[in-house]
Amino acid sequence: MTKAETEPFDPEDKWDVLSSAAYARDQRTIPKAWLAMNITFLTLSAILFGLSLRGGAGGACISHAQSSIGIYSPLAMIKEPQRVWIDAEINTTSVFKGAPSDEVDEAWSRISDVPDFSVSNAELQLANMSSIELYGMPDRHLVQFDVFHNLHCLNYLRKSIYMDYYREKLHHSGISHLDHADHCIDIIRQSLQCHSDTTMLGFEWRPQFSLPAPIFSAVHNCPANFQKLTDWMWDHGENLKEYIVKQSE
Ligand SMILES: *[C@@H]1O[C@H](CO)[C@@H](O)[C@H](O)[C@H]1NC(C)=O
Ligand SMILES: *[C@@H]1O[C@H](CO)[C@@H](O)[C@H](O)[C@H]1NC(C)=O
Repeated sequence: MTKAETEPFDPEDKWDVLSSAAYARDQRTIPKAWLAMNITFLTLSAILFGLSLRGGAGGACISHAQSSIGIYSPLAMIKEPQRVWIDAEINTTSVFKGAPSDEVDEAWSRISDVPDFSVSNAELQLANMSSIELYGMPDRHLVQFDVFHNLHCLNYLRKSIYMDYYREKLHHSGISHLDHADHCIDIIRQSLQCHSDTTMLGFEWRPQFSLPAPIFSAVHNCPANFQKLTDWMWDHGENLKEYIVKQSE
């Protein structure tokens, strides 16, 4: 067993993944790009810190860079921050919007029902988390990524609005529909608060309203290229259902 497999995560040790020693001991499991990204972020943080000392908004960027490297995720290295025009007017048409149909379901499925994924114990330790080991796959542990679970939850809420259409599919063993929906609302709330998108939205006058109407569409600084994340999941995920076996205590 390596050090990473036997020792618990030490909060004082959060920069440990940056050290080449830490990298060397888990070379088998930790992608090289992860280390490269950490070094890049550390350098970037140092530069931004220097800039923030001279005033300006650099300080906000530092904490962003730090939080990006604080918690390990095999997906973090392909997040690729980018600017995105979010088109969100009431009349905006989208394959994700509107009355239920096979087409709408397929679009939602593509972004939320991504394949399963597994990581090594060393990777679990880097993220200070635990999971179940896959049966017959030594040192492979089942994980999912939060963004896809949140989208799955949002899709569940969307389906709840069209109960008559989806009634059969909303049944979930072990949890009532209301408890499931409540869980989804609460986890999406906390995620939105966590990511606190501070993009400004303007207002405009419209003939039919006496109050100013918000302009919902805007350019956003997105921490990730979602399309890339999703493509990566479909390329690298796998169906692990047959390895998920409940162990008796
Ligand atoms: C690691 O996880 C444990 C148990 O969940 C928790 O008590 C501890 O605060 C975590 N440490 C860090 C640095 O997040
Ligand atoms: C949709 O709404 C926006 C904002 O109110 C408006 O500028 C645009 O012309 C509308 N588009 C259509 C196709 O109705």
